[in-house]
Amino acid sequence: MDKSGRRFLDAAGQAAVVNIGHGVHEVARAMAEQGSQLAFAHTTQFHSESAEKLAARLLALAPRNFRPGGRVWFTSGGSEATETAIKLARQYYLESNEPARYRVVSRRQSYHGSTLGAMTVSGNVARRTPYQPLLAEWGHVAPCFCYHCPFDKAFPGCATACAEDLSVFLKENDSGSVAAFIFEPVVGATLGAAVPPDGYAQRIAEVCRDHKILLIADEIMSGMGRTGTPFAVQHWNVEPDLILVGKGIASGYAPLGAVLVAPHVVAAFERGSGAFQHGFTYQAHPVATAAGNAVLDYIESHKLFERVWPASENLRASLVPLLSHPHVGEIRGLGLLLGIEFVKDKSTREPFPREEKIAERMRQAAFDQNLLVYPTQGCVDGLRGDHVLLAPPFVVSAQESEQVATALYSALQKVLPQ
Ligand SMILES: Cc1ncc(COP(=O)(O)O)c(C=O)c1O
Repeated sequence: MDKSGRRFLDAAGQAAVVNIGHGVHEVARAMAEQGSQLAFAHTTQFHSESAEKLAARLLALAPRNFRPGGRVWFTSGGSEATETAIKLARQYYLESNEPARYRVVSRRQSYHGSTLGAMTVSGNVARRTPYQPLLAEWGHVAPCFCYHCPFDKAFPGCATACAEDLSVFLKENDSGSVAAFIFEPVVGATLGAAVPPDGYAQRIAEVCRDHKILLIADEIMSGMGRTGTPFAVQHWNVEPDLILVGKGIASGYAPLGAVLVAPHVVAAFERGSGAFQHGFTYQAHPVATAAGNAVLDYIESHKLFERVWPASENLRASLVPLLSHPHVGEIRGLGLLLGIEFVKDKSTREPFPREEKIAERMRQAAFDQNLLVYPTQGCVDGLRGDHVLLAPPFVVSAQESEQVATALYSALQKVLPQ
């Protein structure tokens, strides 16, 4: 609600953050209680009970290869988690006596955060361009985006050419200097919830294994239950070496992120120097990790992970009528991470000119209907291509899903009248 008393329906969870909904008093109380007992202790000397507990709970949710012996490095958000993973991958190879490995290869049309290391691996053109001179070039391969396939192919005939692109890239580009490959299992903001076909993530994992490269799954947006499993890679039984978490981990109640580290990576540090040369003052903050625990308590007691599939089915069913609009190209996604792409020509999938700012105008028109969505431009080629992302809290009801669809339809009629 804003200060005038106007109420909004938050269909974006702000930016795929608010997984359990706004105004949950239990979380606020848990944070206050932690703050009154111990608000801060520096991690050079102390660990807090709340951080230890949350780490164990995250590892229990992770793919099987994280147990036993996995560890968690807490940060204050997603970008810090990406930075941490880049440095972890580098030091892992130093500890493993392979000092030549340092590059982190990633994909075009991706986003991993706004700090310089995270921007280096990101492929999001608009967010990256102003800082280009500051960024190293470690290599970007093709995105996996079936609606605008970079190879002009179609699944399954394509034989996941986009996954093979990583294999080809590594063969041609000094794979001996590569430490890791980072990818978003479901591409959130940049591509509007683009889901890979079955086989893609498995093949990527296989290529990484064959080249002795760490696989980093950026689940900052897709993790913590948003796609219907605790982590999106679990849809394809993929076992990454590092998993990045952010956003939904504390559902917006506190700034929090994390890197989940697989046991064999931990073991290399234990055999080697014994310490990761990295740290942030506010890492593993007791109040933030208390928020993370309280959010997980709420998820468990209200069975919210189990709600994601049925809620997703309701929302998708409500959105079906939008597909008859001549400029709604595709509604895609997994669980409660959905994207709606607007195209100029449905038969050719041609995007609108960038200057028409369709995504932003859709956000404004939805806002006028008291509906909050997350707009982005550039899914087609970094500049053109308009979509809005829907990532509502897991508590979204069938009636609210109908309201989302109705408001979006009105917004569409305003921005793109038929
Ligand atoms: C996939 C992904 N990675 C990393 C980030 C960066 O996280 P933060 O904004 O918390 O630094 C984001 C944020 O949108 C994201 O969606």
